[in-house]
Amino acid sequence: MTASKPAILFVCLGNICRSPLAEAAFRAEADRAGLSVEADSAGTGDWHIGAGPDRRAVATAKRHGIDISDYRARQVSAGDFRRFTHIFALDANNLADLQAIAPADSTAELDLLLNVAPGREGQAVQDPYYGDDEGFETTWNDVTTAARALVERLRT
Ligand code: 4NP
Repeated sequence: MTASKPAILFVCLGNICRSPLAEAAFRAEADRAGLSVEADSAGTGDWHIGAGPDRRAVATAKRHGIDISDYRARQVSAGDFRRFTHIFALDANNLADLQAIAPADSTAELDLLLNVAPGREGQAVQDPYYGDDEGFETTWNDVTTAARALVERLRT
């Protein structure tokens, strides 16, 4: 049997700061490894549906050579739990919210993102929304660490 292509969804609260950066970092690491994947991101909340990423997230990705200005926020939906093979929550609140709305026929593996990174298990990718630009750089480092570990896991 041929394993289907991994399809990964990254979920935070607003889908304008952390999960777009997680999606971008994962796409970049998968590309680098020559791994064929599907990737997307979404928010548990509905406040920013249709909006582009926070300008600080756009600037952070740009500093690392990636343009995310055309990403648009959306809210996670019941269909995502069948469409994606893996759904990763950026923090414990996001994970609890996802567990609460997961349909009975969900097939996605649901986990905390940093659980894939050896030594970072159980940790949250902190929300940088109310902080400064430095917080976004910390977010980038965290999601890149997770993306590398996830690509390594998916390759083997
Ligand atoms: P995110 O950050 O969940 O990483 O996209 C946030 C964005 C917006 C809000 C909170 C967190 N908000 O309250 O509007």
